[in-house]
Amino acid sequence: MKQVINYIEENQNRYIEELKDYLRIPSISTLPSHKKDMKTCANFVAKKLKEAGMKNVKLFPTKGNPLVYGEWLGAPGKPTVLIYGHYDVQPVDPLDEWESDPFEPVIKDGKIWARGADDNKGQNFVHIKSVEAFMKTVGKLPVNVKFLIEGEEEVGGESIEIFLKQNKKLLKCDAVLISDTSLYAPGIPTINYGLRGLSYMEVEITGPNRDLHSGSFGGAVANPINELAKLIAKLHNKDGKITIPGFYKNVKRLTKKEKENIKKLRFSEKKFAKELGVKELQGEKGYSTLERLWARPTLDCNGIVGGFTGEGAKTVLPSKASAKISMRLVPDQDPKEIARAFTKYVKSLVPKSVKINVTDMHGAYPVVIPLNDPAIIAAAKATSKAFGKKTVFTREGGSIPIVVEFAQQLNAPVVLMGLGLDSDNIHSPNEHFSLDTFRLGIISSVYFFEEFSKVKKK
Ligand code: BES
Ligand code: ZN
Repeated sequence: MKQVINYIEENQNRYIEELKDYLRIPSISTLPSHKKDMKTCANFVAKKLKEAGMKNVKLFPTKGNPLVYGEWLGAPGKPTVLIYGHYDVQPVDPLDEWESDPFEPVIKDGKIWARGADDNKGQNFVHIKSVEAFMKTVGKLPVNVKFLIEGEEEVGGESIEIFLKQNKKLLKCDAVLISDTSLYAPGIPTINYGLRGLSYMEVEITGPNRDLHSGSFGGAVANPINELAKLIAKLHNKDGKITIPGFYKNVKRLTKKEKENIKKLRFSEKKFAKELGVKELQGEKGYSTLERLWARPTLDCNGIVGGFTGEGAKTVLPSKASAKISMRLVPDQDPKEIARAFTKYVKSLVPKSVKINVTDMHGAYPVVIPLNDPAIIAAAKATSKAFGKKTVFTREGGSIPIVVEFAQQLNAPVVLMGLGLDSDNIHSPNEHFSLDTFRLGIISSVYFFEEFSKVKKK
């Protein structure tokens, strides 16, 4: 083991240089103009898997972006770990708020700055490099390993879901290992055991058949922006509860044990607010911030368009207005049911003077992972050993659509070994990832393979 760790320490600079190459590829999955970059990035990952000693490395073409697969199955009788990650990233706008080029990584303050540094290139590279360290020193791994790195996570992960259903044998494993979440705080080893689900909707309101002069027509005809604003305002009541009928019907409460765990984490709401530049926090009445983030469903307007938004002033009563509205869900809410309830309710809210059109854009199921699985226990031991501190267990507010599918289709526990930080600016300008965590993450991954190899195969 010592030689594996030594190798990681000695090769750190090269690892970082290679991560930079990975980050230079602008693999933005939601923008059609980046289609070629997706392929380039998939090939880059495949090359790195090969260099790390993985066998049978290939790209699986899909309707969308290619999936990258690689395996090393030289430990017969030992458990198999499926490592998942995503090579696609979010768009970079607003570009002028970046302090450096999003696709020209820089090292500053012990962090690497670029789009995808945390979400998810930095985090999935950790596992590729831990495998490399084993293969280049002892020449083998203590467990069997399979990699599946996708290119559509940020757009709902449709292709991987189809692939998973058709390739259960290829992906058969004893545990799934994913680093695409966060540490509870800097330097605190963390295993995440829950993710929220998602239901993403678009609402379009149409009024008159064309834009109108707001003097000649204002006051006599419904304004779609006014109506949309009224609608959005009706979706929460004064206690911050969502007003969609039946919305909370299947919401599971936190267990006593979870509540105690949250208490022990001693989360500082004051510090949290200060860091975000807000005077006061806000949310559903009767719940603490961590409860609101981890265990309560929410509804947020993500974008709103309509009317005149250019410079200057234009007196206009627009014909259309629309909003993108998403709901984060918790067990046992079903995104499909929630989408239906949302659609029915918002349709009932608008007056006859306007038309409404509602589209279900995509969704994800929420998940809570049982903490007593040997894979989770092994991961907690491994991260604790690497970071030199006791591992904490947290839930996350974000979503990773494929996690529930992995658990159900492969019947395997999912280990969420979060390595990012909530302050890493994922999906935002100036995304970054701590280089110290990058190193400790690689060591955590090494220890995980070692710990998990002691677990008896099911
Ligand atoms: N890495 C994130 C998920 C995440 C974010 C976990 C924050 C924990 C904390 C992932 O890449 C992501 O952004 N997922 C999307 C999924 C959606 C597009 C279906 C999300 O949560 O918005
Ligand atoms: Zn993301």
